[in-house]
Amino acid sequence: MRLYAIFGDPVDHSISPTLHNYTFGKLGFDGCYTKVHVREERGLRERFLDLRLQGINITIPHKEQAFLEADEVLGIARQIEAVNTWYLKDGKIFAYNTDAPGFYESVRHFLFKRPLIIGAGGTARAIALYLKEQGFNPVILNRSGSRLEFFKKKGIEAYTWEDFVINHYDLIINTTSAGLVDENLPAPKELLERLFEFADYAVDVIYNRFTPFLALAQKEGLQIKDGTDMLLYQGVLAFEIFTDFAYGRREIEGIMRESLKLATA
Ligand SMILES: NC(=O)c1ccc[n+]([C@@H]2O[C@H](COP(=O)([O-])OP(=O)(O)OC[C@H]3O[C@@H](n4cnc5c(N)ncnc54)[C@H](OP(=O)(O)O)[C@@H]3O)[C@@H](O)[C@H]2O)c1
Repeated sequence: MRLYAIFGDPVDHSISPTLHNYTFGKLGFDGCYTKVHVREERGLRERFLDLRLQGINITIPHKEQAFLEADEVLGIARQIEAVNTWYLKDGKIFAYNTDAPGFYESVRHFLFKRPLIIGAGGTARAIALYLKEQGFNPVILNRSGSRLEFFKKKGIEAYTWEDFVINHYDLIINTTSAGLVDENLPAPKELLERLFEFADYAVDVIYNRFTPFLALAQKEGLQIKDGTDMLLYQGVLAFEIFTDFAYGRREIEGIMRESLKLATA
């Protein structure tokens, strides 16, 4: 049997084991996926190898460290400098970022042209760089200035609430944790209301919660979407990697969607 896990701190809330184990079962793949609470910032590699794992997902706060400790980083993750998936093959740890393409897959049907990303953390980095690679010009809006340098260096416009000039954005994405466990909006209400006047779509990466951001956007008449599909697609892409691309993406997606419904019902 092949063993998989999610490494994080905290990790209790994660539904990734449910998604992957259900899909292993339905596909008859001999695998098992568990949670590992990893508090230490370093030593992910030793932990991974000692536990004889075949693959892992990595969540907060270890995505940057996982990028540093892998043998080979593939695709857009090289630019993002943070990874959420490791896979062991031929004695080497290969690292990927499936959050970024997972997000894109979840919103591409919106047919947007001008995305604005609220927040400047790891998720914002991943989404901004992936959208840029797809030919968009994403703009960053954040509460404070210290994280903006990363974006500017990559040629992405980035502002704080103070120096931001309102423009026409058709897709507004919340990547902050405002609204995750509180009733906060990710930016001042008046600023969001003015942004929503021009926008068509609002997406929150937080899942399984009707956040104040989405509530306000819906009130202003926008089409809204939470982070459930992003979670699903990042899982589907990780599953493909974990099983060395032995199954079709649509087949995995169908089964994982079923398990997501059961897990969040
Ligand atoms: N659906 C999915 O599959 C999926 C995948 C990955 C992540 N997520 C979610 O994405 C969210 C962000 O994760 P992350 O790893 O990017 O976090 P992070 O690196 O810690 O970044 C947090 C960002 O949020 C901002 N922020 C936090 N609280 C705020 C508030 N009250 N008002 C305004 N801005 C605030 C921070 O601004 P400052 O720079 O000013 O501190 C920072 O820009 C989490 O809720 C996580 O659960 C979802």
